[in-house]
Amino acid sequence: MIVERSPDEMQATALEWRGQGLSVGLVPTMGFLHEGHLSLVRIARARAERVVVSLFVNPTQFGPSEDYQRYPRDEARDLELCHAAGVDVVFAPDAPSMYAVDRSVSLSENRLSKGLCGASRPGHFDGVLTVVAKLFLLCQPTVAVFGEKDAQQLRVIRRMVRDLNFPVAIMGGALVRESDGLAMSSRNKLLSPEERSQAVGLHQALLAIQAAWEAGEVRTDALRAHALKVLERFPLAKLDYLEFVDDISLDRVQEISEPTLVALAVHFPSARLIDNLVLQR
Ligand code: PAJ
Repeated sequence: MIVERSPDEMQATALEWRGQGLSVGLVPTMGFLHEGHLSLVRIARARAERVVVSLFVNPTQFGPSEDYQRYPRDEARDLELCHAAGVDVVFAPDAPSMYAVDRSVSLSENRLSKGLCGASRPGHFDGVLTVVAKLFLLCQPTVAVFGEKDAQQLRVIRRMVRDLNFPVAIMGGALVRESDGLAMSSRNKLLSPEERSQAVGLHQALLAIQAAWEAGEVRTDALRAHALKVLERFPLAKLDYLEFVDDISLDRVQEISEPTLVALAVHFPSARLIDNLVLQR
């Protein structure tokens, strides 16, 4: 396994592979890898002859008061996990090599990225799209894999690829959970023991919604009330948003008839966590 730090060399390697007719799978990450990330690597490994994992805590997707500095990092462990997973190249650039100080071009999406996390994190998805577009140009993937954990991110990236004709297939990987139901996330590491024990509240709130929907409730106001009642049992969890949106347009829905994304974000004192599920018959 090669660890590549230089964007130019990464691109040269990737172009050489593509010139040889090889397929390339890319799994973009911000490191501090867990089983959720590794499940995406396995998808890429099954679909492509060369697999690149990027490890890059992207500064442009963090707001000024967010956790860029505190974001968990452990590159040595990440490299071991990538090696064991059969990754060919780990692309781990530093921020100055990715962003010129006088950079003046970036991407933005003006519809799907405005609600949900986009409403609480202005500029976040512009940062994500810009870095993902750069990673696509640097790593030349034929396929790139993203997790359903970040449901809005996956949908915004699919939209970018469609609207800008990126020659890459986007695959989604299922959300991977801890045994108590907490969605795996690098940020779980930031939680205190007390916060960690209450972090199951996100999944439990979603399960309450699912149970009520399966019992026939389709009004999102009523479903929301079920979830809020569950969250009351987890006082360290302060709700950022809980929304029911059409799974394709991400427009809010009042009554569930089509596939609906239920997306939730919660602030704990030490970290903001997200979770989601899709309700569909
Ligand atoms: P990061 O949070 O490291 O996540 C990298 C990829 O792993 C994303 O596609 C994310 O959805 C997926 N992932 C994280 N936790 C998961 C889980 N529990 N189950 C399944 N997949 C999971 O998302 C980012 O980094 C960044 O925004 C990035 C796309 C790399 C751009 O900087």
